[in-house]
Amino acid sequence: MMSPDTADLSLKMQQIARQTDTVLTHIFDEEKANGAATRLVDAMAYSTLNGGKRVRAFLVVATAAMLMEDTHTDADIPAGAWHVAAAFECLHAYSLIHDDLPAMDDAATRRGKPSCHLAFDQATAILAGDALQSLAFQLLSVPSTHADPMIRAELVLNLAMAAGDAGMAGGQMLDLEAETQALDYTDTARMQGLKTGALITSSVRAGGQYAGANADIMAHLAIYGKAVGQAFQIADDLLDAEGDEAIVGKPLGQDDWRGKSTLVAHLGLDGARQEARKQIDQARQALAQISPVNPLWHRYLDDMAQYIISRNA
Ligand code: IPE
Ligand code: IPE
Ligand code: MG
Ligand code: MG
Ligand code: MG
Repeated sequence: MMSPDTADLSLKMQQIARQTDTVLTHIFDEEKANGAATRLVDAMAYSTLNGGKRVRAFLVVATAAMLMEDTHTDADIPAGAWHVAAAFECLHAYSLIHDDLPAMDDAATRRGKPSCHLAFDQATAILAGDALQSLAFQLLSVPSTHADPMIRAELVLNLAMAAGDAGMAGGQMLDLEAETQALDYTDTARMQGLKTGALITSSVRAGGQYAGANADIMAHLAIYGKAVGQAFQIADDLLDAEGDEAIVGKPLGQDDWRGKSTLVAHLGLDGARQEARKQIDQARQALAQISPVNPLWHRYLDDMAQYIISRNA
């Protein structure tokens, strides 16, 4: 049976996912009204409004809400924080669309449905990824996201660094290289930190930036985000090795089949589970150093760390 804490978290995750969908739907309607190419926006909407756990949106909103005054009910969370959450989900969806392309993982399903390049076509999928990436930066930089232009600039820089050659895209490069050359443990951990960890860490940081957190809090958030990000990819690799494809909604067994260096390959299933648990303990210790304005959201972030390694999808 689920513990009450877990039940609380899953309800909150559902609420955040629903609100993220509402915000994204509105944004795509606006893009169309502003003259965007219909087929392109349809492909972008297909790959963002198709479920997804919304972990990155959750981390943005929960971190901001934990640190801001007057965010006791969800309705008090400023619209701009939802823009930031939507931006991270757009960037993430772009990374998944490109990750599934034949030139990369050649995956036929995503979130239980045909991948973007099969539902549309490869050229449209490439463009949908490109446009989702641009949209993410558009969402961070529009004045309605935050009144302070300095904070908007910080949000843009934070995402740019997490997404680029020294972040997600760089990690994806190393990941492809790992199919043909064995990486040692340290390089595998580095690759995972870049391809997945960077975006997760930066979603936590973005929540802090949005709330105007001081340097001390930002440092704790960075440790929490980094550890959660590492544990997240270990959990993804564990699911690849032993998950249920019907629940996970994407092809599994891929890492082994491709001979990819993962932490599961290095440590074995039990060793990887232990490493993930170690990371989560570190994350929770860092979070405990933060005195929250809103303790309830602090609890959600603590529960989220646990969820990351106990999830089955
Ligand atoms: C999958 O991410 C790809 C990785 C970075 C490991 P998620 O597991 O967050 O995918 P969704 O968004 O819930 O579908
Ligand atoms: C993907 O890692 C990380 C991204 C940046 C998209 P995987 O290739 O393991 O992700 P899944 O398993 O396809 O979601
Ligand atoms: Mg991949
Ligand atoms: Mg993949
Ligand atoms: Mg995977």
